[in-house]
Amino acid sequence: MKILLGISGGIAAYKTPELVRLLKKAGHQVRVACTRNALELVSRIALETVSGEPVLFETFTPRTHPGVEHIDLAGWPDAVVIAPATANVIAKLACGLADDFLTTVLLATPAPVWIAPGMNTRMWEHPATLENVQRLIGRGVGVIGPDSGELACGTSGPGRMSEPSVIVGILEEHFARPRPLAGRRVLITAGATREHLDPVRFISNPSTGRMGVALARAARELGAEVTLVHGHLEVPVPDGVVAVPAGSAIELHRAVFEWKDRADLLIMTAAVGDYMSASPAAEKMKKEALGATLTLQLVRTPDILAELAQSGNDPSGAGTAPRAPRPKLVGFAAETAGGDESRLLELARQKLSRKGCDALFANDVSIAGAGFAAETNQGVLLFADGHVVWVPQGTKDQVAASLLESVVASLLL
Ligand code: CTP
Repeated sequence: MKILLGISGGIAAYKTPELVRLLKKAGHQVRVACTRNALELVSRIALETVSGEPVLFETFTPRTHPGVEHIDLAGWPDAVVIAPATANVIAKLACGLADDFLTTVLLATPAPVWIAPGMNTRMWEHPATLENVQRLIGRGVGVIGPDSGELACGTSGPGRMSEPSVIVGILEEHFARPRPLAGRRVLITAGATREHLDPVRFISNPSTGRMGVALARAARELGAEVTLVHGHLEVPVPDGVVAVPAGSAIELHRAVFEWKDRADLLIMTAAVGDYMSASPAAEKMKKEALGATLTLQLVRTPDILAELAQSGNDPSGAGTAPRAPRPKLVGFAAETAGGDESRLLELARQKLSRKGCDALFANDVSIAGAGFAAETNQGVLLFADGHVVWVPQGTKDQVAASLLESVVASLLL
C-alpha cells in the first residue's frame, strides 16, 4: 500500500518517525506531508531518513518537474493517515479549509482518510471538536483513538494519540478485509424528493437519507465505486462517493437513467414523491388570488424502479429478443404493518412482484426504531427467487452492512 502520513503540530508528532518505521516494516511505501508547526516538534531529517522520501510542507516551492505538487501527491496514496491530528487540523478537514500544504492535499485526495487525534483533554472534549469528529465520521473518515492517559500538558485524560503500533494494527486490519465489490459500480438513491407547487412551496416526506448514505459508505468499504443520486439529505455525503443532486422525482428519474448503464447494482432508497403538481406555478402563488381554500391537482410521478426493471425486459415479450442489460435492482419499502411480521412479508412480496426488481427491503415504520428519521432500522430482505433474510435491529450502518452482504452474495457473485 502507498500510505501518506500527514503530521500536524501536536506534541505526539515526536512519535511519528516510529510510525513511519513500523509502516515501512509492514511493507508499505510511506510519504510524509506535514504542517509547519509539526516540524517544530519532530525532526524533518529523522522523517526523511526513515521514510527515504522528502518531507513535504510548502505549497509554493520551485518545481523540479511539471505538475502541481499537492495535486500530484493527493492522487498518490491508497490511504491517508493524519497522526497526530490536532483539534485545528480536524476542524479544517471538517470545514474543507485548505490553507496550507497538508490541508490542501487532504481536500484534493480521493483516498480513504484516518485520523489519530492527539490533544489536551479539554480540547478533545470541546463540543466543537466532538462535532467536527462526528462530521468526519459521517463522511467516512476513520478515527483511531485517542487513548486516555498522561498528557504532555501534565494532566491525565482522553486525548493521547494512540501508540504507533496500534495505529499500524488498525490500518493493517482494514487493508486485510475482503473487498468483494472492488471494480464494481454501485448506484444508490437517497433522501426525500421535493415536488414544488411554486418556487417557495413543495410537497415532501420526512426521509433524512441516512439509510442510503449508510449504504453508500458500506459499498465504498467493500471496494465499490459509488454514485449517490440524492434528493434532500440531512446527513453529509461520505467522502469518496460521487454525489449527484436531484431535487424532484422527475430530476431523480433523469439522473438515474443517465447513470444506470454505468452501474452493476442500483439500490433505490430514495423516498420518491408519488405525486407532483399538475401545473407548478412559475411565480409565488398569492393568497389573495387563491382565496380561502386551495385545491391542488396532483399527477403521478414516474415509477423509477418499475421502469428500470421493465427496461431490462425482452421488448418483444416473446422471450426471443435479447434482454437489455440493466443493473441488479434493489428496492426499499417503508410499510405500516403494525408490528406483524407476516403482514410485512406479504406487503414486501406484493411490492417486489409489482415493481419487478431483484430484491426488496421492507421495514415496518409503525414499530419503534424502524421509522423514517430513526437512528436504527430493521426489516426483511426478500429476493425475487423467494428467499428471505430477516435483518435484526441495528444502527443504519450495521443494517447497511448486512443488507449489502446478502445482496452481494445473492445477486453479484
Ligand atoms: N420508487 C420509485 N419511483 C417512485 C416511487 C417509489 O422508484 N415514483 C421506489 C422507491 O425508491 C422504493 C420503491 O420504489 O425503492 C418502493 O417505494 P414505495 O413508495 O414504498 O412504493 P410505491 O410504489 O410508491 O407504493 P405505495 O403505494 O406503497 O406508496
